Amino acid sequence: MTERVTAFIIDGDEDSRSATTEILSQFAGMTVAGTAKNYSSGYEGILKLKPTLVLIDLDIDLPQAFQVMEKMLEAVPGLSIFAISRDSSSDIILRAMRSGASDFLPRPIKPRDIFNSLKKIGSLASSPSGGEANAHGKAILCFSPKGGTGNTSIATNLAVSLHLATNKQVVLVDLDLEGGDAGIFLNLKPKYTISDVTANISRLDAVFLRGVLAKHASGIYLLGEPKTIEEAISVTPNDARAVINLLKKMFSYVVVDSAGSFNEMNLAAFDVSDLIVAVGVMSLPSIKSLQKSLTVFSRLDMGGKVKLVVNRYLKRGDISIKDAEKTLGYDCFWDIPNDFNSVITSINRGQPLPVLFPNSEISKSYRDFAAKVEHYFAGRPK
Ligand SMILES: Nc1ncnc2c1ncn2[C@@H]1O[C@H](COP(=O)(O)OP(=O)(O)OP(=O)(O)O)[C@@H](O)[C@H]1O
Ligand SMILES: [Mg+2]
Repeated sequence: MTERVTAFIIDGDEDSRSATTEILSQFAGMTVAGTAKNYSSGYEGILKLKPTLVLIDLDIDLPQAFQVMEKMLEAVPGLSIFAISRDSSSDIILRAMRSGASDFLPRPIKPRDIFNSLKKIGSLASSPSGGEANAHGKAILCFSPKGGTGNTSIATNLAVSLHLATNKQVVLVDLDLEGGDAGIFLNLKPKYTISDVTANISRLDAVFLRGVLAKHASGIYLLGEPKTIEEAISVTPNDARAVINLLKKMFSYVVVDSAGSFNEMNLAAFDVSDLIVAVGVMSLPSIKSLQKSLTVFSRLDMGGKVKLVVNRYLKRGDISIKDAEKTLGYDCFWDIPNDFNSVITSINRGQPLPVLFPNSEISKSYRDFAAKVEHYFAGRPK
């Protein structure tokens, strides 16, 4: 703990009140200044004692709890609140965070949970929006300067293949905010999206973020695109940066699908990504856009982390990979074969290729691509 903490407990259950007091008292630098069994006497106590931390029982009365939390935060600037409830559904956690809770403690309260939450408010002070410290996961951003060349197919199937090949935790983030369709590719309709997360950015932490991700049957997680254009517009570049950075602390791989432009949003995301997969197909328009993009990446001093991936590759096509490499001055990192039938069936059924057609040539290609990505990072320092 970086500074002294004065805590106040509002809990309708007498046994739990004293058990929590006992747990808190074991932490060095912690004083329990007072307790209350209801919100009104709790609020009075808080005005009088001005604690630095309040633990509040949501189960007495949910709407009242949220109201009193907001009043407490206005009355005591800098106050941290831990919300306590028997119900630890994403809904309750999200509403508690919206009303100002720094963290959520499921009932019955365990010393380990309190410890973790206290650690978090210690780190929140120095890094409110999820800075890069301790980030070990790797962010892989898929970027295609031309629409329709398979960026979402690659992001989705790479994410699933990485999870299946390594058994590591993988999250897919849809940063194509206005036109994203990663949710369709996975047949998931997440209840919460990236804009729900960023609307609560000042309270962003791992517990909150974990609670709003949707889990796919393949084992990967999804942070989906906003449901409306208005919500999409509300997400700022700094929000995207903070979300990706925090996800890197929670997951081994953060795969990001993006829209194909060099806007502020993407520039922030490129900056926090460890690998940028530049996607193109072997057609003149696609190669021309790749060429322009690669020039910008090198001007931004990001050329080293950009890898070229050719999609829909036909061995006997007009333009060979060698030709493209020569024109672009870039080696091709990977190529995915052309297989329209499998890909379109996979998209329409909302089942990724490695799940729907595990033995197909294209799934094997994704498996080897994932292994190459894993190998690429294994040779690099954390
Ligand atoms: N390897 C492949 N072989 C054949 N067709 C493919 C392949 N990959 C993608 N496609 C087809 O390309 C189309 C576009 O794919 P996708 O939506 O992944 O591209 P995108 O770059 O994300 O597009 P948008 O610009 O709309 O976001 C799909 O209809 C899909 O079937
Ligand atoms: Mg797309």
